[in-house]
Amino acid sequence: MQIERNLGMDLVRATEMAALRAARMMGRGDKNGADQLAVDAMRYALANMQMDGTVVIGEGEKDDAPMLYTGEKLGTGEGPAVDIAVDPVEGTTLLAEGMPGAIAVVALAERHSLYAWSGIAYMDKLAVGEGAKGAIDIDAPVKDNLYNIALALGKRIEDVTVVVLDRPRHKDLIRQIRETGARIKTILHGDVSAGIMTAVDDPPADVLMGIGGAPEAVITAAALKCLGGEIQCRLWTRNDEERELAQQNNIDLAKVYRIEDLVRSENIFVSATGITDGEFLRGVRYRRGGATTHSVVMRSASGTTRFVESTHRWDKLMRISVLDYEHAEE
Ligand code: FBP
Repeated sequence: MQIERNLGMDLVRATEMAALRAARMMGRGDKNGADQLAVDAMRYALANMQMDGTVVIGEGEKDDAPMLYTGEKLGTGEGPAVDIAVDPVEGTTLLAEGMPGAIAVVALAERHSLYAWSGIAYMDKLAVGEGAKGAIDIDAPVKDNLYNIALALGKRIEDVTVVVLDRPRHKDLIRQIRETGARIKTILHGDVSAGIMTAVDDPPADVLMGIGGAPEAVITAAALKCLGGEIQCRLWTRNDEERELAQQNNIDLAKVYRIEDLVRSENIFVSATGITDGEFLRGVRYRRGGATTHSVVMRSASGTTRFVESTHRWDKLMRISVLDYEHAEE
């Protein structure tokens, strides 16, 4: 079913609300507290959207969060039937430690089109923007991928920038990248941002490589589909328990998931709002009586990508959001 209405503006309100609330917790060292504020706000905004939504990628697949859980129904129940993938704070540690790159992000697409949670927490990922689309192959050696990406982008391999999560599991990957002479941007957290980063104008990185969260891969795929990029992934088991789970459920660990396996829809909306300052989104700035937010909203059907800078006034915001009670006295 075609989603007729542009849900982008509704979605951006959800990520803005999450960001506005969570950004207050910047540097306070409280990951869970920050996440909870964002979850409450995003859930409230999504619950009020005119849609029949089901969360398919929820909070805390890895650590059992109680809200915005997989299977939760959201929306008024009227309007299009949609799948929702949420990450109210992508980079909770970044936010809690006062570091750059935390975003609030949500993706929405037609019902039964988003890859559902398999129980395996991680995926190996290879993602690029439009310029290098068609040049990647997750089965090929790292050097071949980087060579082909360089060729597609018309760059020397030494000028290609690879973004990689800073993890011990990536020691060998980093060695292989270094052997090619390519540049490496290591990040502590936030590989949704890192994936999106490869596909924005004047990209700060050309390719995302390495193992990160599986739910994050679905959200990244939704964004890259809107932005014209490409992602290939493979499930990556971290322990025997997951390997057993895969066996019991006939999950093919060798399968390569392409963008169309992760998001089987041409009707996708993605919104992301900066919480702390990042490479392509500014973080929340508080000012007298309000705050400003910076977001990107994408719609695949129209191919539009909008960067939205919003000014929020607490006295007005009170009426429309969960921030009511928080700022009632201000
Ligand atoms: P959270 O926002 O849930 O903390 O996730 C941050 C993140 O860095 C993701 O961007 C990434 O996909 C995943 O965690 C990597 O997992 P791990 O930190 O276990 O390597």
